[in-house]
Amino acid sequence: MPDANANIRIAPSLLAADFARLGDAIAAVEQAGADQLHLDIMDGHFVPNLSIGVPVVESVSRCTDLFLDTHLMIEEPVRYAPAFASAGSDLITFHIEVVDHPRDAVKAIRDLGVKVGVALNPGTPAESIFGVEELVDLVLVMTVWPGFGGQSFIADTCPKIELIAPRLAPHQWLEVDGGITPKTVGRAVEAGANTLVAGSSVFGGDPQEGIAQLRDAAIAARRERH
Ligand code: DX5
Ligand code: ZN
Repeated sequence: MPDANANIRIAPSLLAADFARLGDAIAAVEQAGADQLHLDIMDGHFVPNLSIGVPVVESVSRCTDLFLDTHLMIEEPVRYAPAFASAGSDLITFHIEVVDHPRDAVKAIRDLGVKVGVALNPGTPAESIFGVEELVDLVLVMTVWPGFGGQSFIADTCPKIELIAPRLAPHQWLEVDGGITPKTVGRAVEAGANTLVAGSSVFGGDPQEGIAQLRDAAIAARRERH
């Protein structure tokens, strides 16, 4: 049986950090044992909000060796992916809702030399990624409607996680994003998630404590599941 702890990954989302002190926020989660950094890119079209863009990713990349997990909540992800790859993103996730030819999108992003993820909104069925899931490194099931941090976990997304989990190989990450706290993380992990994005529950208090509590709750749920 694989080590139940080994494949839990905690991905703090910088969206909830103090943007005037990003360097400190990154150092704090690095020290606290974060597995990767989650960067939320919003365009004001696909989601009703704006966030950071390429120059911030570039600066973040210069100040950390953490793996940069870049979540593009934008239209035309293939058009902008090269700029994010050059800026230092290690993985680029696009939303299935905005591409007509997802397999081509995966190939175009992979050809940039980065890992590739595909994301689904809460209202998008699991079937929408069938045939694509085998090509990607990560599937991101949104557990809130994207656009804003600090929302409540939508438990109705768990059956979708359960449908997707058995279709993925052990090296592929099944990520959840939105409303992940020590209270909700267990449900996502029991459903099959192994990569846990957390903004408010990491940067809303002491990041060290926040990450430790998330990891403990996730590992406990993982043991239940095995
Ligand atoms: C929401 C973003 C999330 C967000 C999560 O659109 O994709 O990554 O930062 O924030 P919390 O953990 O506060 O729900
Ligand atoms: Zn995100």
